[in-house]
Amino acid sequence: MPPPLRFFSARFATHDPFVYRLGLQVFILARRVRLPYGSPIKLEPPPARRLFRFLTGHPPSSVTALEKAESIRARKAARPIAALTAYDYPTARLLDESGVDVLLVGDSLGMVVLGFPDTTQVTLDHMLHHVAAVARAKPQALIVADLPIHTYDTPTQALATARQLVAAGAEAVKLEGGIRQAEKIQAITHVGIPVMGHLGMLPQRVIEEGGYRKKGRTPEQTAALHAGAAAIIEAGVFAIVFESIIPATARLLTDSLTVPTIGIGCGSNTCDGEVAVITDLLGSYPWFVPPFARPETNLAAATREAVARYVSRVQGG
Ligand code: KIV
Repeated sequence: MPPPLRFFSARFATHDPFVYRLGLQVFILARRVRLPYGSPIKLEPPPARRLFRFLTGHPPSSVTALEKAESIRARKAARPIAALTAYDYPTARLLDESGVDVLLVGDSLGMVVLGFPDTTQVTLDHMLHHVAAVARAKPQALIVADLPIHTYDTPTQALATARQLVAAGAEAVKLEGGIRQAEKIQAITHVGIPVMGHLGMLPQRVIEEGGYRKKGRTPEQTAALHAGAAAIIEAGVFAIVFESIIPATARLLTDSLTVPTIGIGCGSNTCDGEVAVITDLLGSYPWFVPPFARPETNLAAATREAVARYVSRVQGG
């Protein structure tokens, strides 16, 4: 007796040998042909992988990018998502070994790695270099890469940029903005590349906005955020970063949206998960610490002390 075709959907489960063989052919074909993301045919992970994920809370290492993104999407209102930025191989390995769910190769690397004043000078070449380094760690966590500013001005350009980031090792991409970005998101998700949204304070617009300001303070701002979120969810995002949205609005929006929200600077327990810039968590970039940062250690002090000991050992003979 053949096993029921649970790979597709319980609706198609059958014990009829002809229907079973037909279904098997369709299944094999569907695995070879890349289905558009959001296709009505949902390829669920096979039972062994689902069991592994159920028991450990993590996808097995051989899962595809789409499966990893879907497992993040499925965390809505369930186990909170822990995301951190990573820009290099050792950090990616350490964070992955510590159980983080998402490794974001954020364009914040412009500030905390490359020494620019903001993210507006980050180029695609910078991103490709760092994404490749993170990908060499082969993490179980989902690798998400930011599309840098002016690399997604049109849907065609957005798709071309996303493809380059994926070729460098990204498993999903993130871009900033709401309604205006929906078409670009759709162009990317349509070819099977998972997209994460980013609403609230948009660092790539810091110059136009004249600084980092809190969002969602008024009913009008809240309605605009909600409309933006609805548009990008419709376009296929699997999760949305909320940046610097006041806690009450972040909570309200989180409760009303169908995909997980991942907060930074939105207060505690207002979103379905949190993301932090790794240098804020480790205290390794002491020259600018955002007010919402919650460092767990002080690597800047530890580094200065270790280097001072080294210098005195070497110079002191
Ligand atoms: O670039 C980045 O690190 C980000 C986070 C602030 C979410 O987008």
